[in-house]
Amino acid sequence: MATNGSSAQGAPALGGKAYPITDHTFDVVVVGAGGAGLRASVGCAQAGLRTACISKVFPTRSHTVAAQGGISAALGNMGPDDWRWHMYDTVKGSDWLGDQDAIEYMCRHAPAAVYELDHWGVPFSRTEVGKIYQRPFGGMTTEFGKGVAQRTCAAADRTGHAILHTLYGQALKAKCQFFIEYFAIDLIRDAEGAVRGVVCLKLDDGTIHRFRAQITILATGGYGRAYFSATSAHTCTGDGNAMALRAGLPLQDMEFVQFHPTGIYGAGCLITEGARGEGGYLVNSEGERFMERYAPHAKDLASRDVVSRAMTMEIREGRGVGKNKDHIFLHLDHLDPKVLHERLPGISDSARIFAGVDLSKEPIPVLPTVHYNMGGIPTNYHGEVLTKVDGDPDATVPGLMALGEAACVSVHGANRLGSNSLIDLVVFGRAAGLRAAETLKPGDRQPELAKDSAEFPLSRLDRFRYAKGKTPTAALRLNMQLVMQTNCAVFRTGEVLAEGKEKIHAAWRSGADVSVTDRSLIWNSDLVETLEYDNLIVQAVVTMEGAANRLESRGAHAREDYPKRDDVNWMKHTLTWIDPVEQTVAIDYRPVHAYTMSNDIGYIEPKARVY
Ligand code: FUM
Repeated sequence: MATNGSSAQGAPALGGKAYPITDHTFDVVVVGAGGAGLRASVGCAQAGLRTACISKVFPTRSHTVAAQGGISAALGNMGPDDWRWHMYDTVKGSDWLGDQDAIEYMCRHAPAAVYELDHWGVPFSRTEVGKIYQRPFGGMTTEFGKGVAQRTCAAADRTGHAILHTLYGQALKAKCQFFIEYFAIDLIRDAEGAVRGVVCLKLDDGTIHRFRAQITILATGGYGRAYFSATSAHTCTGDGNAMALRAGLPLQDMEFVQFHPTGIYGAGCLITEGARGEGGYLVNSEGERFMERYAPHAKDLASRDVVSRAMTMEIREGRGVGKNKDHIFLHLDHLDPKVLHERLPGISDSARIFAGVDLSKEPIPVLPTVHYNMGGIPTNYHGEVLTKVDGDPDATVPGLMALGEAACVSVHGANRLGSNSLIDLVVFGRAAGLRAAETLKPGDRQPELAKDSAEFPLSRLDRFRYAKGKTPTAALRLNMQLVMQTNCAVFRTGEVLAEGKEKIHAAWRSGADVSVTDRSLIWNSDLVETLEYDNLIVQAVVTMEGAANRLESRGAHAREDYPKRDDVNWMKHTLTWIDPVEQTVAIDYRPVHAYTMSNDIGYIEPKARVY
């Protein structure tokens, strides 16, 4: 296929091996075709910018497709609502680690973003009078915490699927050019520190492609697969986060990993929080609805960190269900079959296939399961990537944006509320498109790339392609996943984290012994999985380091040895950098944005977080 401004080029010599390179020039290159990447691609392409979207999987297989319960926006279709109440809930949900300017931006723009999706064709479920259907979700309230909000707009329990397919159609219509099944190896950063594009491996023919762009947008998703049990797809390896680390940029708040209360026991697949929104409830081995003890007001619809901790405590205290008393039951069998059929058809299938359960007759066995990364590449609310230089914590990196789960904008802070992820994708995807349109001229001349601009990515490719060690990638990955699952889980202590640090650094070092047996570049899943593992391990390391360093409990980071939130010393974002050669980590902090964008709402003061 002829591409926008592409040309084949002579091969640079690399360690004796030469790769022919195909060059492409665009105004904007988006890496990742999930909800955030596609929404940004639509905006950039509609603004007349030559836009490429690169994806390692077919766009509609991106992990947004698996989002079930819905997308939050204060539409007020099911009762009074206000974006300010949504903002209050999000700040409280974040345990006051979220940046309040960004949270204000997201919540006030959420209704317009949802109506835009509606007009583009997302088949939302409807009320009897034809409005978008909205269901209750954890931590979503009215009147600043007084009532229960129905704020989560749903397309049954397949909301992500519906949104992703619609956005892909819109991106094609806007003439965004797709590069499908291209694996991004590394960013191109020039001598001044600006990001100038990305180098990719085309998976089906093994060719190398160098993309030059005025702006590169990383929308590569989270890194759930650093853990053993996750709702994330096998492809959720946080490739953009790792590229940022290798480019010398920091990641932010990586210690905040969300465990979703209801992953199917043994399989990890998601049972949507929408199930509890529709009236489902959790019970222990005594048949007790134990959430009433932990969150007397919100009960099963407390925020996810609270519910996951409560479930873990019940299991620890011997009230888990099953032969080994190691999980919890979720009941939906009391619900009207019509509700199950209309509102929750997908999880009815998941429960049958992955737990062998007919949820209209029996409870589903569930367990808190890794679901979402609050941390990622730090950005402002335009999507521009931040790095701390010369003491300025809000300095931006020229030519680079990040979005979605790859980014830490930070609207979720220490804990994300369910259904705030899909709205984050589309609100900030749109914001990035607007910023690109504002700052770029379509077709503007770009400086030539340095002759050796592909050397760093290609030497990385070679390092694994010609690896001669003895340990298969699958063994390295399993070891990393078990360390993370054991040493950086729902509850943490200094001792467990110190052991985790030792083990995860040892795992990082043992990557030198990786064995890759297939040297070809075409459809070589062993090589790609090795590149992905190399991406995961650095994120695992900075997650563990950030967790060991933070001496307080906040949101998803629950330290048994520091059980209280400490706003005096720890209301700040963690920044972590790596030295990939020395295999060391540096840590610093940046202040939370404790201010709002406008006078429409004042700063929401910290207080105790009870549900
Ligand atoms: O439970 C769910 O449907 C997941 C939603 C989310 O993570 O936002």
